[in-house]
Amino acid sequence: MTSPAPHSTVDRDRLARLMSVEVDRFARAHPRSATLHEQAKESLLDGVPMNWMSEWASPFPLFVESAHGASFRCVDGHDYVDFCLGDTGAMAGHGPAPTIAVVERQMRRGITHMLPTEDAIAAGEELTRRFGLPLWQFTMTATDANRFSIRLARRITRRSKILVHDECYHGSVDETFATLDADGRVVATDLNIGPPVDPALTTRVAPFNDIGALERALEDEEVAAVLVEPALTNVGIVLPEPGYHEALRDLTRRTGTILIIDETHTICAGPGGMTARDGLQPDMLVIGKTIGGGIPAGTYGMTHAIAERVRAAMPPRADVGGVGGTLAGYALSTAAIRATLGEVLTDEAFDRMIPLAERWEAGVNEVIARHRVPWHVTRLGARAEYHFMPTPARDGAEQAAHGDHPLERYLHLAAMNRGVLMTPFHNMALMSPATKASDVDRHTAAFDEAVAALVA
Ligand SMILES: Cc1ncc(COP(=O)(O)O)c(C=O)c1O
Repeated sequence: MTSPAPHSTVDRDRLARLMSVEVDRFARAHPRSATLHEQAKESLLDGVPMNWMSEWASPFPLFVESAHGASFRCVDGHDYVDFCLGDTGAMAGHGPAPTIAVVERQMRRGITHMLPTEDAIAAGEELTRRFGLPLWQFTMTATDANRFSIRLARRITRRSKILVHDECYHGSVDETFATLDADGRVVATDLNIGPPVDPALTTRVAPFNDIGALERALEDEEVAAVLVEPALTNVGIVLPEPGYHEALRDLTRRTGTILIIDETHTICAGPGGMTARDGLQPDMLVIGKTIGGGIPAGTYGMTHAIAERVRAAMPPRADVGGVGGTLAGYALSTAAIRATLGEVLTDEAFDRMIPLAERWEAGVNEVIARHRVPWHVTRLGARAEYHFMPTPARDGAEQAAHGDHPLERYLHLAAMNRGVLMTPFHNMALMSPATKASDVDRHTAAFDEAVAALVA
């Protein structure tokens, strides 16, 4: 059963009034960003270098002057605590010193030559230590790592379909832009831009935590791979119920389906993501974004058994086979991964980051309780998020049904106006090794002020 719609708990007129006050405040405080945005419109579509950057709650994006650790300064001279951290691209903190040192050195020694350097070996060994899989390949992005994993899974199983969770996000991977309609049929997601084919042809979709749906989708043995985040993180956080991952592993093994776990966001659970924390046993594992400390980097790992099948199935010339890329695994990227995993996002760093997320969770929960709003916080390791419903969702559709875009935008803009940046797409806060308790408390105070105005 779903909870009452959030609309019943927030006065919409008050919300609109408060939002316009915040918009004015933002505009007054950021004349230089406003001017640069106007100038940018002359050469950049909608005045931004990439369309996602139009989606902030502010009337125009902040232009950044510089970023260090867990904070940045905008061109108008205001400082911000950054809980968005480049939507996890900067989870290691902005400009971590060990990554900068190694990257600077590597830039002088050759950025790319389509030949390996020793750093790639160290990066592979560290990935094995963390995630357990023995063999790795590198890419530029997590999207690419997912795309290549899917291609390899299709090639070695000679099956055509991919299964994903409803309301998933795995990057701009065509097969994953599928959802379930009200009758449980697979359809393209509303926002799918120019799909090459109807995703119903390539994809099956199961609600998160629904073992029966997995069973039905896999039983005819036409699915090459199941590609999943071990917890949903892109529709807010939805955690797995006890036994779900065991059932998923059991069903994929029984049906000869390759299990690909995408840890790109769920690395927040610990140094080896949920795979290490919860003893998951994927056939393949994908991770990107965080691991390069901001330098483009992605990777996919595999078991020896999968590797043998890959070798046996590869065409004689693989360079134009749809797996790989000119800069994939390039020297700068593997150097950055080595330094970032080896010296920044270390086991000890997670020991500091996770308690900070607990502090964030406790602070936000206290505000929610004191103001009696029917919301809650879900946390996964170093990542936490508030949701506009009283109890955690069981699957992506339930979570999505409680999304409240105007409310979210107000809370985000109110936070920005008080020096705190949240992720634009949902209510996520991520801790980096550089985040401090006072940063967390600054968000709690901003959130308190915004919610108090809403319920006054
Ligand atoms: C779980 C997951 N996988 C893959 C990606 C794709 O990452 P990128 O955009 O760096 O390719 C994302 C991006 O948000 C993600 O959340």
